[in-house]
Amino acid sequence: MSELSIEFNKDYTIQWWERLLDDEDAMNKWLSKLWNTEKNGFFGGLRSARKFTEEGSDLRATFCKIAKEEWRHSQVLHRILKARGITPVAEEQENSKYWPHVMKGVKDLKSVAAASAIGELLAAKRFEVIQQHPRTPKDILVFINQALPEEQGHFDSYAAIAGEAAMQNALQRHKEAIAIISGQAPK
Ligand SMILES: [Fe+2]
Ligand SMILES: [Fe+2]
Repeated sequence: MSELSIEFNKDYTIQWWERLLDDEDAMNKWLSKLWNTEKNGFFGGLRSARKFTEEGSDLRATFCKIAKEEWRHSQVLHRILKARGITPVAEEQENSKYWPHVMKGVKDLKSVAAASAIGELLAAKRFEVIQQHPRTPKDILVFINQALPEEQGHFDSYAAIAGEAAMQNALQRHKEAIAIISGQAPK
């Protein structure tokens, strides 16, 4: 996975994870939200593939391969939740203000790949914190061990398609979106 300088607060993420480790209800809520995000990643990936790539192309195959892996992630999470006695409902999941802002910059293949790359990078960085934490529950660790290398691979694929200029634009939108969700900019 190549390096990209991105605003990511590791200490904050460790503290966030420790709050979830001590609060089973909050943990299950987050797992449900992640299930929805992974599932939406599948549908969004297929939409982007249809919109921005040609049928039968290598690019179409790359987008579809990534989308299928997101679907598998959502299924693994669904099984984990079921074993925890929970059936998540998509309509009940929180909508973040972050992602719509990053996606506003999408207009073509390179910009959709760049926005997607940012999403994958942030997921990978968060998953790294979860993987390294000694108290991460076994069921979640099994998921993370499978999903982390795949999210890193998704980042590499998308970043290569996007190229440097589109990545810089997406990074700028990422910074603005962070400001919006932190309440530092008008919504
Ligand atoms: Fe995923
Ligand atoms: Fe991914």
